[in-house]
This record gives sequence, C-alpha cells and structure tokens, in this order.
Amino acid sequence: MIQIKLLASILSCNFLKLEEEIKDAELVGCDMLHLDIMDGHFVPNITIGPDIVRQIHKATKLKLDVHLMVENPSFWSEKFINAGAYSITVHQEADYHLNRLINSIKGKNTRALVSINPATSPILLEYILEYIDGVLIMSVNPGFGGQAFIENSLKKIEYLSKFKYLHNLEFVIQVDGGVNLDNIKSLIDAGADEIIAGSALFKVNKSEFVKKFKELTRVT
Ligand code: DX5
Ligand code: ZN
Repeated sequence: MIQIKLLASILSCNFLKLEEEIKDAELVGCDMLHLDIMDGHFVPNITIGPDIVRQIHKATKLKLDVHLMVENPSFWSEKFINAGAYSITVHQEADYHLNRLINSIKGKNTRALVSINPATSPILLEYILEYIDGVLIMSVNPGFGGQAFIENSLKKIEYLSKFKYLHNLEFVIQVDGGVNLDNIKSLIDAGADEIIAGSALFKVNKSEFVKKFKELTRVT
C-alpha cells in the first residue's frame, strides 16, 4: 500500500512567525510544504514570489510543492524551480501549451503536476495524464484558505483513480481545499494520494491534527 502523504499549505499559517510554523510542520511529521503562489490575476489574491520560496527552501528539509495560481506559468515555473521547488503545479486553465510546459518542467528534474479548478472536467486532462507526475484537484475555488469543500470533487478523484488503474499510469492525485478530519477518509477511499491541508492544520494544534491524520490513513 502506498503511504498517503500530508502536505502543509502555509497560506493559513502565521506569516509573522513563518520560520517557526515551517519548523513545527516538519517536526510534527508533515511530508511536504505546499506553497501557494498567487498573482492577483489568475486568482483574486497575492502571496509570495521566488525570493521568499528560496528562503523557505534554506529553512527546511521538507520538499517544496509549489502551486502556481498565476497567469503565464511558463514565465514563472523556471524561477520557482531555481528557488528550490521539488514540484511545480500549473493550472490547465492558465496555459495554452501544457504539453510543452510539462516537458520543460520535467526536463529540469522537477515533478510536474497539473491542477484543475472546480468547474473544469478531468476529462480535459486525458491527453496529458501519461506525461505528468500528478494531478491536483482544486476542491475549492482557488485564492483563499478556509473555504468549504466542494463535494463533486470526489467524483473527479474517482475518475482519475480509475483512469490511472485502467491505463497502468503512476501519477499521484492531490486534493487541495476544504480538507478536514471529517472528509479525509472519503478522499482516500476515492483514490487521493497526497492531501493538502491549510486551515485544518495551522489553525489547530498541529501535532494533534497529524496524529489523527495518521490514524485515518492507517486504517485504509
Ligand atoms: C487555495 C490554496 C490552498 C489553501 C487551502 O487556493 O490552493 O492550498 O491553502 O486551504 P484550506 O485547506 O484552508 O482550504
Ligand atoms: Zn494550493
């Protein structure tokens, strides 16, 4: 059985104590850090750029999973790879030439994932799935932490999980948005491999959350 991974989305952390929050996430057993990059165009919010990602990379041993919610991701991807990204996730909706962009990310020895917004069908990914390392299902409208999980995201996870099995592929399935201790089990049952948690992790006692996460993922 593949171990389900927990990715800490720092969007919901206390940014005035960023280093402490990151070290805590590492200490309690999170598997990676999920960094949300927003440009105020693709989503109605702005976050951090490559310089801060580079500093985060220096401050932690955790791998950095960089989620680009930006227009023109082909301009930005290399800058985040150079800043220390382990994964780059680009949105299907944000690039006309996904195949080219994916090849360029993978050519730099970086994991390449594609994300889809809640209103986008996973069927649109049919001809890219064999080339990518993962799919990120956005289970809220991207831009903010603390929103409610959109239930039909589960169907997308199931669809991708079946596709993966039928075509003997190995891409990972990530879920991002509205994840909490009450829905994690259903995400895993549907086929999620990597669970991204923001407010559910940073707004409570992190070690309690991770303990419960591990219990939930152990029984599957
Ligand atoms: C939202 C971001 C998420 C966000 C999730 O656009 O992509 O990573 O941090 O936050 P929660 O887990 O609070 O929904
Ligand atoms: Zn994200």
